[in-house]
Amino acid sequence: NSVEGNICLIDELKNIFEVAIASAYPDLTDPPVVITVSGNNPKFGDYQCNSAMAIAQMLKAKNVKTNPREVANNILNKTPTSPFIERMEVAGAGYLNIYINKLMTEHILNCILRFGVKPPPVKKEKIVVDFSSPNIAKEMHVGHLRSTIIGESICRILEFLGHDVLRINHLGDWGTQFGMLIAHLQDKFPDFKTVSPPISDLQAFYKESKKRFDEDEEFKKRAYACVVELQSHQPDYIAAWKLICDVSLQEFQKIYDRLEIKIINRGESFYQDRMDVVVKELKDAGLLEEDEGRWIMWGNPDNHDGIPLTIVKSGGGYTYDTSDMATIKQRVQEEKGDRFIYVTDAGQATHFLIIEACARRAGILKDHQKVEHVGFGVVLGEDKKKFKTRSGDTIKLIELLDEGLKRALDKLIEKGRDKVLTPEQLKRAQEAVAYGCIKYADLSHNRINDYVFSFDKMLDDKGNTAVYLLYALTRIRSIARTAQISEEQLAAEIKKSGFKFGHDAEWKLGKVLIRFPEIILKVSADLYIHSLCEYLYEISSAFTEFYDKCYCVEKDKEGKIVKIIYERLMLCEATARIMEKCLDILGIKTVSRM
Ligand code: ARG
Repeated sequence: NSVEGNICLIDELKNIFEVAIASAYPDLTDPPVVITVSGNNPKFGDYQCNSAMAIAQMLKAKNVKTNPREVANNILNKTPTSPFIERMEVAGAGYLNIYINKLMTEHILNCILRFGVKPPPVKKEKIVVDFSSPNIAKEMHVGHLRSTIIGESICRILEFLGHDVLRINHLGDWGTQFGMLIAHLQDKFPDFKTVSPPISDLQAFYKESKKRFDEDEEFKKRAYACVVELQSHQPDYIAAWKLICDVSLQEFQKIYDRLEIKIINRGESFYQDRMDVVVKELKDAGLLEEDEGRWIMWGNPDNHDGIPLTIVKSGGGYTYDTSDMATIKQRVQEEKGDRFIYVTDAGQATHFLIIEACARRAGILKDHQKVEHVGFGVVLGEDKKKFKTRSGDTIKLIELLDEGLKRALDKLIEKGRDKVLTPEQLKRAQEAVAYGCIKYADLSHNRINDYVFSFDKMLDDKGNTAVYLLYALTRIRSIARTAQISEEQLAAEIKKSGFKFGHDAEWKLGKVLIRFPEIILKVSADLYIHSLCEYLYEISSAFTEFYDKCYCVEKDKEGKIVKIIYERLMLCEATARIMEKCLDILGIKTVSRM
């Protein structure tokens, strides 16, 4: 049997129906091949081919007399027998219901049980993911937290598929704000090079220097002079700049460590020389236009409806646009990337569209290379206004994580878990719940929408939350424990007889489980992670239904085990493995007890 556990069933069905439709209607150019997963209603089959309506329309346009039902029947008759398909029927207005084959599904599940959860095969690419990317000396705010969480998960799914992923923290570590920071540092801590100054609260430091900058003309002038010194790499100024960056980076790193984020720091400063080069190249190629002293570039020279990039400011300085042109060039030419992903708030969508257009126009990007902006909405407080503390300050991320820890512990104590778990287990559960719920709440919402940050909601143990899923998983994992069946024993059973379907609820769950590759491919293409969360929830609902109807272990009145149904334990095992893989991709830690 050549089929493996990582097969994407819906793609196989697409291939089968593409051939069937082409042979039923050889004269049509590109007839649509629409395969969908049928909902929960078994009347509609497991999958549907919904091409008949559109094809009937195409035929009518050619004056062929027909109707969708007739088309669906023709397609059905041209569909070759396939190990995936049990039977088909035409229903309603011309739907083609597809019922999938049980033996094949069993085989797929047996592959998962024997060899683990494997990714579907894909062409390997080099993918640069630009995420998190806070700005030095400014706070890392909840928007950056979203970028961090979403970006990490995107990296994980792409890495699971075997791609070569470069995780880049495009820190805002270069720019005119350093002038005032350095000037202020020189005043407050003149011997900063020998005695390291106590400025761990860089935000306050930033505010102080900004205040002086806005109020004091003298200071402002000095700040500008500092920028010039810095940009000409005066050692003292570079040392001050480095110091400020290091303080910031240490703060950011605390967040990354807690959330287990892997990322390479490569901020805007990395592109200093490359900016000179790209500006010269664009100028030499005649792609820049002068506009009131500045140099601009249009994505489309014939259409000036949108906005251009500002490549050189009127004073000669560079901008965010300049740095992103140098950045994309470096990622194409030095990193040899195929796909470039930027995870920032939705407000920057236009910026990246223009960067892409200009990079294509300049011949930096080739046709096969893709640029994707992964935008997301704003984080709101429970009052639906911008997320702030009660006193109106921006929320410090470390404090947010601390509150998550506290609330998670309260929740566990409320459930009496402190009485059954060892202190270490309790701590592990607390962290899994706290960080898991913050990540999951973010990832389970369609990222493009604004989302309301609510600890109460995310710590609810009912509904589509991390807490619910983590509990569901520990429950599944405890079933084999109750049966006193070790992993080795189960593995031996799998090897000996393998998994076979019995009860209808098993069959229903099995059909959900084998959709894993389909979901992975979809999410890795559109980068909407919430589909993976919806899938996880669907698994756990199907599992609950199965577990309500099917006992795995039968006990007598004294609680002695009288019967173990190994097939069902196998189904539990397959469910747990797939759920664990999904949670791992979401960056959520699982625990064996909580
Ligand atoms: N530092 C920017 C911000 O805080 C995000 C940078 C995103 N990446 C990029 N290549 N422009 O909004």
